[in-house]
Amino acid sequence: MSSDQNSSAADWVVDGVEGLALWARADRVLPGGGIYLSRSARFAGEGVLPGFVRDAMGCRVVDADGRKYIDFICANGPNLLGYGHPAVQEAFLEQARRPASMNFFSPSMIELAEQLVERHPGQDWAVLAKTGSEVVTLACRVARKATGRSLIVAFNQAYHGSDAELSPWPPPGVPSSRLDDIVRLPWNDAPALEEFCRDHSGKIAGVLFNALDQNSFQPTRFAEPGFVRAIAEAGRKTGAALILDDVRQGFRMNPRGSHHALGIDPDLLCLGKGLGNGYSVSALLGRDALREGARGIMFTSSLHFEQPPMQAAMATLQAYDREDAFGAMTRAGSRLRAGIEAAAVETGHAIDFSGPPAMPTLLFEDDPDHSRGMWFSREAARRGVLIHPGLNGFLCAAHDDESIDEALFAVEEALAATPLPAG
Ligand SMILES: Cc1ncc(COP(=O)(O)O)c(C=O)c1O
Repeated sequence: MSSDQNSSAADWVVDGVEGLALWARADRVLPGGGIYLSRSARFAGEGVLPGFVRDAMGCRVVDADGRKYIDFICANGPNLLGYGHPAVQEAFLEQARRPASMNFFSPSMIELAEQLVERHPGQDWAVLAKTGSEVVTLACRVARKATGRSLIVAFNQAYHGSDAELSPWPPPGVPSSRLDDIVRLPWNDAPALEEFCRDHSGKIAGVLFNALDQNSFQPTRFAEPGFVRAIAEAGRKTGAALILDDVRQGFRMNPRGSHHALGIDPDLLCLGKGLGNGYSVSALLGRDALREGARGIMFTSSLHFEQPPMQAAMATLQAYDREDAFGAMTRAGSRLRAGIEAAAVETGHAIDFSGPPAMPTLLFEDDPDHSRGMWFSREAARRGVLIHPGLNGFLCAAHDDESIDEALFAVEEALAATPLPAG
């Protein structure tokens, strides 16, 4: 890493020689652009974050050039307990000694479904899959089949996975006719939701919501109590299924699901990301009333039945409870926030820090093109700390006092190296 901290951040890229060589190779064989969305480091701005990670342990990652970082991106959520958590690795590897995919159902599948149902009172069945996108899409299908209606109400620009129908932006390559049955209403606008429900009562199959409004380059917004009441009422009054997409916020707002933080009972609950601590497993949970809706939907894939990720998920749930992972993330996130806010005052920066402790969003005031945020993220990265300039971050249970102290030291230096707004 260059030690010249006086050079302009704008002409300095975080990637080292190996990282740059990998970008050159990537640009030859990958289609690039927005196709991987935030999973490409370029989503954070060119050269702001290291593009290639070769190893990780606990709350730290190692880039292609062997440089270590304290990581507040956590693979965009899957790193819940810490990279390489020993109990999860052991459970995965023990199962991986046997063939991963065999005929029909496995005991692992039933055990995990049982554990998920038991863990979430009110949810009576579970369907396992690999990704959050799959289970959110499935939830919409179950709601539609159960109600015999087609409209799904979602909010603001919320990301609900890669299904084109659920895209918050006009999705290229998709006929517009496929997008007619999704309606986006404003977040925290109870009257708008009530009015829509009054006007379309017999047509709404599902209300698809998150516990937070978290969109790129925007502050995180909590749900106001009146809005939560309006969502619950929408279900009661219209008969629509309430679908909580807890793929991102799950395990980080409340140990038993974000609906406990909101005070709402979903009919369908989507889990993913942290469920397997990085291994590919997701789940749709549902109430008995929707079991019939789920039957008869053809939802299958040859590799859904792989057992090692299911074993990883069970080990993750156990370790999460045993080690009070939620408490650890909340404590570390609260210290991080207090430290960054103090450092911002110290260095004269006006920042906007939002979100719950385990999922912080750090933006800069008076930064319409996000250039200051990117400058800061690059300065933090060159000092060994990864903070995304435009997406909410994630804490994991391996963020201990030592890593937070180390991160705060680097963050204060990075803030001092970030220009203040003119005037
Ligand atoms: C709220 C939400 N729903 C669904 C998804 C899709 O999950 P996956 O990336 O596992 O397909 C994401 C992914 O970021 C998400 O944040």
